Amino acid sequence: MDTADRAHAPVVVAIDGPSGSGKSTVSRAVAARLGLSFLDTGAMYRAMTWWMLANEVDVTDPEAVAIACGKPVIVSGTDADGPTITVDGQDVSGPIRGPEVTAQVSAVSAVPQVRARLVELQRGCAELAPRGIVAEGRDMGSVVFPEATAKIFLTASGTARSERRAAELRAKGVDEQTIAEMAADLDRRDAADSSRATAPLVQAPGAVLVDTSELTLQQVIDTVSDLVAQRAGHLIAA
Ligand code: DC
Repeated sequence: MDTADRAHAPVVVAIDGPSGSGKSTVSRAVAARLGLSFLDTGAMYRAMTWWMLANEVDVTDPEAVAIACGKPVIVSGTDADGPTITVDGQDVSGPIRGPEVTAQVSAVSAVPQVRARLVELQRGCAELAPRGIVAEGRDMGSVVFPEATAKIFLTASGTARSERRAAELRAKGVDEQTIAEMAADLDRRDAADSSRATAPLVQAPGAVLVDTSELTLQQVIDTVSDLVAQRAGHLIAA
């Protein structure tokens, strides 16, 4: 859509926070409730990492990653009722959640050329969203959409985040040793994502902090939907 066809700039809701804060589930539910598109930018960093591993790029070598990162064609489908992610036409929504990708994604996402490429794709998704978009990640409010209509920083204590992830894994029958490894990996990724030089995880200026440690999922969805409605309700009313 040509921007001249719009009565106003597209609605962008930027949601950031650490792993396990519930961002993806909450962002998707809020997008569906408000009739907006949904973008999981972590999935794009995971898709880039999956392609690097599949093509035997040494992900510990930032120069090799920088040289290769222009090659994969990464496409995010932004329907909140059924988001999709493909690399070179292949559906990678399953493999990008595997342990190999999860272990390497922080290294790949720290490479500035990777970020520059994916940020451009992310802005393109927002431009194409018919009514606006809920975009979630680590740098939505700080870097990708600094002019977002609403910015939310979702967080939860480390203990609450580990316990939620452990409960999900236990329900799937995963053993306790793997669950302990997962908790250590969560801590390691948080430290890496928060301390990297390019676009570290931060609460963006103007972002509203929502601590989900003591809230149910439904309470978080209600809180975030209310915050978005306060700031952008007049733009997204049907
Ligand atoms: O949200 P997630 O766990 O799927 O994200 C995977 C990784 O991607 C995470 O370790 C940090 C990185 N990431 C990022 O650097 N910037 C974003 N906007 C989203 C994710």
